[in-house]
Amino acid sequence: MSNERIRNKELLGKIMSAEEASTLIKDGMVIGASGFTPSGYPKAVPFALAERVKATDEKMKLTLYSGASLGPEVDGAWAEAGIIAKRLPYQTNGTLRKEINAGNVEYLDMHLSHSTQYVSYGVLPKVDVAIVEALAITEEGHIIPTTAIGNTPTFIKSAEKVIVEINTSKPMALEGMADIYMTENPPYRQPIPITKPDQRIGTTYIECGLDKIAAIVETDLKDKARPLTPTDDVSRKISENILKFFRKEVAEGRLPKNLLPLQSGVGSVANAVLYGLCDSEFENLTCYTEVVQDSMLELVRCGKANLLSTTSISASPEGTEKFIEEIDFFKDKIILRPQEISNNPEVARRIGIIAMNTALEIDIYGNVNSTHVMGSKMMNGIGGSGDFARNASITIFTTAATAKGGDISSIVPMVSHVDHTEHDVMVIVTDQGVADLRGLSPKERALTIINNCVHPDYKPMLLDYYNRAMENGAKHTPHILDEALSWHSRFQKTGSMKIEK
Ligand code: COA
Repeated sequence: MSNERIRNKELLGKIMSAEEASTLIKDGMVIGASGFTPSGYPKAVPFALAERVKATDEKMKLTLYSGASLGPEVDGAWAEAGIIAKRLPYQTNGTLRKEINAGNVEYLDMHLSHSTQYVSYGVLPKVDVAIVEALAITEEGHIIPTTAIGNTPTFIKSAEKVIVEINTSKPMALEGMADIYMTENPPYRQPIPITKPDQRIGTTYIECGLDKIAAIVETDLKDKARPLTPTDDVSRKISENILKFFRKEVAEGRLPKNLLPLQSGVGSVANAVLYGLCDSEFENLTCYTEVVQDSMLELVRCGKANLLSTTSISASPEGTEKFIEEIDFFKDKIILRPQEISNNPEVARRIGIIAMNTALEIDIYGNVNSTHVMGSKMMNGIGGSGDFARNASITIFTTAATAKGGDISSIVPMVSHVDHTEHDVMVIVTDQGVADLRGLSPKERALTIINNCVHPDYKPMLLDYYNRAMENGAKHTPHILDEALSWHSRFQKTGSMKIEK
């Protein structure tokens, strides 16, 4: 391997195959993996471990910590091999999701910024082995990360041993994008010195040290990036509604002309909103977010945004190739931070981000369910949405007004699980319209949501529910408890939330 990738000769003796390195992982261990979404995660060693366990009857049950979701070489292969006993704080893999919902994997769905703290506070068991992807290892044994930071600094600090995957498919030109800053535990924690998204406050490497490095594996495996989700009409309408809302906020003097730092979830709606901004009058935008996908890179390319602060660059396969070709252009426009900083409530509140995330369902009072289908089945997890939602200057939740071909109304009398409470949710945007809930009482919120955001097929049903609830008992947050979740049970029994089918 080149001197540029391993800058201390002493480390050359630690180079080994992925199979050999995987033998350092023993039954019962806690593993901390680098990466955040399918970006910057270790691939060769986790995959080699899964293959070995599948081919033998070796007993292997592991606890797996990460920054967020990981690629299929970890979450998919490990779930298939049956080696995940416990997983946190987030996942999106189909096989792992099945195992979680079958009750075979204990899953802790956590605020991503809490996951860092739980490790550093000692609430969660220490990491035995951290497996981290790196561009290079410095003379001092520190790690130069690739395209995502996530919880890697905390895992390395907590770990007994570190396995480093040097990924030669990631260009050295990425060096310098990282900005690693770690907080102390209370009562020693200091204010995080970020008042604007473009401030660099740390180092370009993650502290590790020569002694902790137990194995170095060379690989050129590429991240299994997710394909770009196409923008459909519903996402386009949601995007138009958000832009209309921004224009009103600017006109009424509540937002500056270049808005405030944007945080955006991933998926087709998020992409549509950001592409919509590319074609809008808004300029000099900044982003303080956790994931940069194709549309955010485009926002910089088209000259509308000049800075992206994130913990992960996670574009589609084509988007990643294009990004790598243009890396010199992007180099001083992207700052890669640990997720403790990208998702930090203190910073989000100080710089006043605009948080835009997606809901599965929302109730008439503004409570949001982003995670549990019909109250019980885990979809992905809360991810960073809660880190931002409670602390943003404007918290927006988007959803298509209906799901499953119109058989589900995304606005229901009562959500079947709560991730974001009515106290955090400020603005709801569907393809039908915008409900600005700020300053409204529960009854005012209910009527605003029903009138502005609900699909016409479900509007009379929700108005009927609300009007009868008003006659039913206490009138602060009117409900009919026997009926509040009847829309969900009707869907489970008949396949539709509509009354006659
Ligand atoms: N009830 C049941 N199922 C629903 C539903 C509802 N109210 N609303 C949507 N669905 C289903 C869809 O039909 C789709 O099912 P399918 O996979 O079988 O086709 C699935 O849920 C995903 O919906 P989709 O419309 O494709 O949404 P998405 O890809 O934009 O994802 C979330 C939406 C909520 C699952 C996703 O945004 C998420 O996981 N959010 C939580 C994490 C987060 O916010 N992170 C933010 C920081 S990046």
